[in-house]
Amino acid sequence: MWAFRIDEKKIIQRFEARTPGSAKLFLRAEGVTPGGVMAAIKFFDPYPVYMKRAHGSRVWDVDGNEYVDYLMSYGALALGHGAKAVRDSIESVMDSLGTTVFGTPTEEEIAYGSVLRDLYHPGGSLRFMNSGLEATTLAVRLARAHTKRKRIAKFEGHYHGAVDRLLFSYSPEVEKAGEAGSPVPIADSADVDRGLLNDSVVLPFNDWESTERILEREASDLACVIMEPFEEGVIPGDWGFMKSLRKATRDLKIPLVFDEVKTGFRVRVGGATEFYSIVPDIVCLGKIIGGGLPIGAVVGEEEILAHLDPRKKRGTNVFHSGTFNGNPLSVNVGRATVDALMRPGAFDSLCRRTDSLRRGISAALAERGIRHQMAGEGGMFNVYFTSKPVRSYRDVKGSDLRFRRFLDLELITNGVYLKPENRYCLSLAHSDGDISLTKERFEKSVDNLTASAAS
Ligand SMILES: Cc1ncc(COP(=O)(O)O)c(C=O)c1O
Repeated sequence: MWAFRIDEKKIIQRFEARTPGSAKLFLRAEGVTPGGVMAAIKFFDPYPVYMKRAHGSRVWDVDGNEYVDYLMSYGALALGHGAKAVRDSIESVMDSLGTTVFGTPTEEEIAYGSVLRDLYHPGGSLRFMNSGLEATTLAVRLARAHTKRKRIAKFEGHYHGAVDRLLFSYSPEVEKAGEAGSPVPIADSADVDRGLLNDSVVLPFNDWESTERILEREASDLACVIMEPFEEGVIPGDWGFMKSLRKATRDLKIPLVFDEVKTGFRVRVGGATEFYSIVPDIVCLGKIIGGGLPIGAVVGEEEILAHLDPRKKRGTNVFHSGTFNGNPLSVNVGRATVDALMRPGAFDSLCRRTDSLRRGISAALAERGIRHQMAGEGGMFNVYFTSKPVRSYRDVKGSDLRFRRFLDLELITNGVYLKPENRYCLSLAHSDGDISLTKERFEKSVDNLTASAAS
């Protein structure tokens, strides 16, 4: 692997000098919760930044530092922080409904459910829940009940939420994960036991020959193939790969699940489903469709979702429930967000600004002779430090992740926030001015980083 010389100590010192309030809070947090965070993803070395306030494209931390925010809560915020449409919707729920949750069905959930269903699986059915993880969990349960088969196939490096059934081969050590063309399931979590691994099949993304061979071998036991149609939300499946996968899963009668929790309303309004013009059997949604409030949705073939019908005899249906499923706040705020994104020109402007930043970052790196690859569609992208095309998990692992991690730390020090090593997500609140400012701060960060080793 090719690596830059950088002075890690210096970069960490600069970060620490700028964020003493976060360091203090992290110490306190360690006394309350393991590792000081409420979700594994929120931790990074030496400690996470504690945010205090947000507006539009900006966030401010507890030390008063201002950042242009590209985390956008892991892509969940499409309109930016505190958008008027979101505020108005929250107020109108309280004013007109008089509560945050009834515990009964509402008209709004039917209306919003129809919008999402018509976009992601016209003629199909939909069910709401409260997170992406709940959506993927339900998709897999439905597939197992529908096919009466046990085993789940997923792609190496694809993430489907923190649930034991799907926590294998998301971030395996490549040395332990078998040959690239025939990867072996590796547990990502201590609770994933041998039994679960025996029911798990790993596929190599963007390698059709190997994927086809494995699918044909395992077909009779497979309940579904679940995938991120863009790995990490940004690395596309090749056209030929995606079309062949759809055809083969259809021919072999294996339900195909698109996990669009990241890509839904990000790569296109209709997600990867629209981008590829492929109709999977089930689509999982989350993040943006809640407009910043917790939500998940499963959309798909009526015949498959029909297993959820509570009128079916207990034990013959798939029992699925949840106190907050379809709660009016998430449904109304989600609807307002999606409506705003679907206004004429809105999504295009998000794509245009995203493309402008992506090009600016790529140009700044190219000018400095730094080899890199860009990936992404629509309202998000990522950068990988490698001279080779990035088409799979192993390509990502072969890139210079250490340089990336320290560049992201330096970006934070210079007022650009994204979780180190995570993707860039934009929103309708990001202006042309934000993009120019970010390009400047990006150039400064790269220069500081590369200079750190020289001096
Ligand atoms: C593709 C994908 N699926 C599922 C999930 C889980 O969603 P949640 O964090 O809402 O449970 C995520 C979260 O980032 C995701 O990116």
